[in-house]
Amino acid sequence: MIDTEPAPVSTVIGHRGAAGHAPENTLASLEAASGLGVRWVEFDTKLTADGHVVVFHDDTLERTTGGSGTVAETTLADLRALDAGSWFDAAYAGQRVPTLKEAMETLARLGLGAVVEIKPSPGRERETGLAVAGALAAGWPETLPAPLIASFEPTALGAARDTAPNIHRALNVFKIPWGWRNRTKALGCRAVHCLEKNLTARQVGVLKDEGMVVRAFTVNDQTRAETLLRWGVDGVFSDYPERLLPR
Ligand code: G3P
Ligand code: MG
Repeated sequence: MIDTEPAPVSTVIGHRGAAGHAPENTLASLEAASGLGVRWVEFDTKLTADGHVVVFHDDTLERTTGGSGTVAETTLADLRALDAGSWFDAAYAGQRVPTLKEAMETLARLGLGAVVEIKPSPGRERETGLAVAGALAAGWPETLPAPLIASFEPTALGAARDTAPNIHRALNVFKIPWGWRNRTKALGCRAVHCLEKNLTARQVGVLKDEGMVVRAFTVNDQTRAETLLRWGVDGVFSDYPERLLPR
């Protein structure tokens, strides 16, 4: 059972694990984040052809594996046969696309909290939201702080709310939309995660005054992080989290 209290998400969150240091969304990337002193990570989740939740960003395989085609049309067995590390560095040859279950086991071992992004393949928004939230509700390690679900897809967030209403949710956006109040209220989201370059001090002020939690992605520059935090941003996602952590 997941705690109903808001998750105490850390200010600096490793993006896709620590994507600047290891192949994104692999177990090695979670390990790298932990090694850098990060307490929370973000990673992306989607469904295989046969309905398994895996940790993966793109809809297609080419950029981050040795395979081709879409994740949505690839079975877990076929996905697991792919190398998800060599594209980044030969030292990571043999890294596999993790299942969400494996990622949760690794997080538990490392003591890492997580923002779990639902990144559905087109047309599978509700199915993916149901599967990811269901898996988190059933299998989230009791030793860890409660996870935070995030997504750009309202349908996926709605499905997550229906399946696991006690897991907090965040709406991801590329810029703060005019209708953010209604959108977040309809989805029961208390947090907005926005592309950092589109955030303004004024927007952050309004969002904070109205009780929202605001986080920014992806922030790899220390000066920019300091500016955002001074505006009142609550957290930043970074490929190089060590640049932003207190020394
Ligand atoms: O959750 C923040 C960030 O991960 C959203 O964008 O494309 O890196 O998943 P993306
Ligand atoms: Mg993401």
